Amino acid sequence: MVGKLRAGLIGCGFFARNHLHAWRELADEVDLVAVCDTDAGRAEAARQAFDVPTAYTDAAEMFSRERLDFVDIVTTMPSHRALVLLAAAHKVPAIVQKPFAPTWEDCVAMVEACRDAGIPLMVHENFRFQAPMLEVGEVLRSGALGPLTWARLSWRTGYDVYAGQPYLAQEKQLVILDVGIHVLDLARVFLGEVTRIACETQSIRPGLAGEDMATMLLRHEAGAVSVVEATYASRRQPDTFPETLLEIEGRDGALALDHGLKLRVTTGGSTTERYVGTPLRAWTSEPWHVAQESVLNTQRHWVECLRAGREPATSGRDNLKTYALVVAAYEAAASGRAVAPKVWAG
Ligand SMILES: NC(=O)c1ccc[n+]([C@@H]2O[C@H](COP(=O)([O-])OP(=O)(O)OC[C@H]3O[C@@H](n4cnc5c(N)ncnc54)[C@H](O)[C@@H]3O)[C@@H](O)[C@H]2O)c1
Repeated sequence: MVGKLRAGLIGCGFFARNHLHAWRELADEVDLVAVCDTDAGRAEAARQAFDVPTAYTDAAEMFSRERLDFVDIVTTMPSHRALVLLAAAHKVPAIVQKPFAPTWEDCVAMVEACRDAGIPLMVHENFRFQAPMLEVGEVLRSGALGPLTWARLSWRTGYDVYAGQPYLAQEKQLVILDVGIHVLDLARVFLGEVTRIACETQSIRPGLAGEDMATMLLRHEAGAVSVVEATYASRRQPDTFPETLLEIEGRDGALALDHGLKLRVTTGGSTTERYVGTPLRAWTSEPWHVAQESVLNTQRHWVECLRAGREPATSGRDNLKTYALVVAAYEAAASGRAVAPKVWAG
C-alpha cells in the first residue's frame, strides 16, 4: 500500500478518543475519512472534534459508500464478529479492540473469515506496545538474564473502572477477560507459550456479575513458571493504576518493573535502575499517559505492517493464543484443575 491510507473508525465511545487522537498524530500516513456509531450523537461529536468528513450510524452503509484501506473497530466485544465479517465481505483489512470476542468460536470465525478473504486482521492488544514493556522485551532479548525461570506479572488496582466503563459491572466474565487478557498476553510474550494454567477467582465488590480478582499460575513451554494477577478490588496503597508491575528471574539475573515506571535490572552481581516512562503528549495525561501512548504505538505498528505486507505481532491468529489462555483460566477456576490451552487447528 502506498500513499495515505483511507481509514474508517467504528465505535466512538469511551476509549475511541485515544484512537482518534492517535490517528490524528498519524495524519501523514492515514486519512480518517469516516467515523461510525449506532449512537448518532457520539458519531457526530467525534466527527466534529476530529474534523472527520463523514459520520455514519450504520457500519454496512459506511462500507458500501466509502473506499477504505482499513477499518478500526473500537466497539465492545459483542459486535466484533459481525463487524469483522462485514469488513471481510468488503475485503477491508481490520484492526479490532480487545477482548477479541465473547467466545472462542467467535474469535476463530473472525480469523478464518479474514484468512479466506485474504485480508490482514489485528487485535488492538496494546499492553505489549507500552514503552516500559518494549524496554523489558529488549532486556530479555539481550539474553542478559539467561534462561528464564520465574515471573510475577501483576495488575492490581482499586481504581473505579466502572465509572468510565459501566458495562463492566454486568460482565459474567470480568477481570480476566477485561484486563487479565493483557497480562496473560505479556506472560506469553516474555516467557513463551503456555502448556497449562491453574486459576482461582474471587468476587470482592458487591453487585458485580463476574469475578474481580484472579490469581493464575502458568507453566511455560521453555520451563519457566509465572504468576499472573489481575484485580479491580485491591486496597493497597499506593494504588498503582494503570501500571502492570513485573518481576522476572532467569538463571543469570533478574529484572523488576516497579511502581513509578522504574526498571531495575540485575546481572553479573550488579544492579542498575532507570526510569522507563515517556513524556506527556498533547492529548495524554497522568496517570495513564503510558497506556494512552501505547495506542499510538499499536496503530503505528498496524500501518507499518499493512504497508510492508507483514503479519502484525498481535494478528488475529496470534491473539487466539492469548484468548486460549483466558478460556483455560476460566475452565481452571471452575474445575479446580490446571488446564491446557486450546490450539487452533487452522
Ligand atoms: N486496550 C485498552 O487498553 C482498552 C481500554 C479500555 C477499553 N478497551 C476496549 O475498547 C472497546 C470499547 O470500549 P469502550 O469503553 O470505549 O466502550 P463504549 O461502550 O464506551 O463505546 C463503544 C461504542 O461502540 C458503539 N457501538 C456498539 N456497537 C456498534 C455497532 N455495531 N456499530 C457502530 N457502533 C457501535 C456504541 O454505541 C458505543 O458508543 C472494548 O472492547 C474495551 O474492552 C480497551
